[in-house]
Amino acid sequence: MTESKQDTPRDEHREQYPDQPSPEELRAMTPEDAMYAGAEADDIHIVHRRNRFPIRGTKAEKRAERGVAAAFAISALAGFGFIVAFIALPYKWHLPGTPQNFRFYTPALGGLLAIMLLFIGIGMVLWAKWLMPEEEVVQDRHDVPSSDQDKIMTEATLLVGLEDTGLPRRSLILRTLGLAGGALATVPLVAIVGAMLKRPGTQLLHTMFRPNKKLFGGQGLVPIVYSDWRRVSPDDIEPGGLTTVFPGVRTEDADGYDGVTSASSPTLIIRLRPGQKVKARKGQASFGWPPEAPEFVAFSKICTHAGCPASLYEQQTSRLLCPCHQSQFDVLRDAAPIFGPASRSLPKLPLGVEVGEDGRQYFVARSDYKEAIGPGFWERA
Ligand code: FES
Repeated sequence: MTESKQDTPRDEHREQYPDQPSPEELRAMTPEDAMYAGAEADDIHIVHRRNRFPIRGTKAEKRAERGVAAAFAISALAGFGFIVAFIALPYKWHLPGTPQNFRFYTPALGGLLAIMLLFIGIGMVLWAKWLMPEEEVVQDRHDVPSSDQDKIMTEATLLVGLEDTGLPRRSLILRTLGLAGGALATVPLVAIVGAMLKRPGTQLLHTMFRPNKKLFGGQGLVPIVYSDWRRVSPDDIEPGGLTTVFPGVRTEDADGYDGVTSASSPTLIIRLRPGQKVKARKGQASFGWPPEAPEFVAFSKICTHAGCPASLYEQQTSRLLCPCHQSQFDVLRDAAPIFGPASRSLPKLPLGVEVGEDGRQYFVARSDYKEAIGPGFWERA
């Protein structure tokens, strides 16, 4: 066990060396004295410095060291938990006993990442507070470039700083910090490796408009509803008008859909004005209602640029405008992009009607969308 200096204001150093010590004098000093000399040369006055554990290896020091190591170990565990959760949990994962639409996959990853970063921070703070020397300094700025003496003194300062951290002799902390740092560095790799292990399948190709015989019987056509679950009838929409609609599937019934559920499904039904006709894209001429001479057409409300709701309808020009980056889609050209950054048409939903119990006609989706909804890697132009 060795004793180290404590409570050593360096006034005597200034008395001993009124000017800067020479390189020879510096080389003859202990690193700590040279560090003080360096501080003084930079007009940094160490007014108070006390080693928290002047006697090394005491029980108190070991306890403090274990506390810091515990924080780093928790961080490392959270990091490995993140990697395991990313790879092993399905994206629909929910806590046992909670409804399946309460998905916790993303919160679980976020929580583990937060714990990892939090405990690395806590470990650092505890290390500085519990183990490193207390120090109070007053510092003035000085001019550059540095002299040889400055360089030697800076080197000495760094050496003493390294000694202060205790890194060379605190192997427990070093190992746990290395573990936590390793886990943190692995996180960006997880997305790359995980993407190879977890393939998204066809989930991005479906919405809740996908027919479901289990829920709706017959052909399984999904009813089209307003946000308050009322069914949408062709009579509800004036010529030249539009309305926002959704698939009539409650989220608790959505498990069998294997799709990106309600977030992908907002849709606009537009009623054309008399005499207006949509120049449909290949294979989509019959997607409106009635199929032979469509008066109603339905497009995804999700902008193909970056996913904002493209729902500002300019009736005179029959354009749909996206407020985010001003993309415009020409409804009479099957919602083709004609201005702004969007480069892909809004996908079109095949519309149909069925007669309800009250004898009125109500819209249904004849099938799911035939194209992928929204932006992302689907942008191929
Ligand atoms: S999100 Fe619609 S234009 Fe950018």
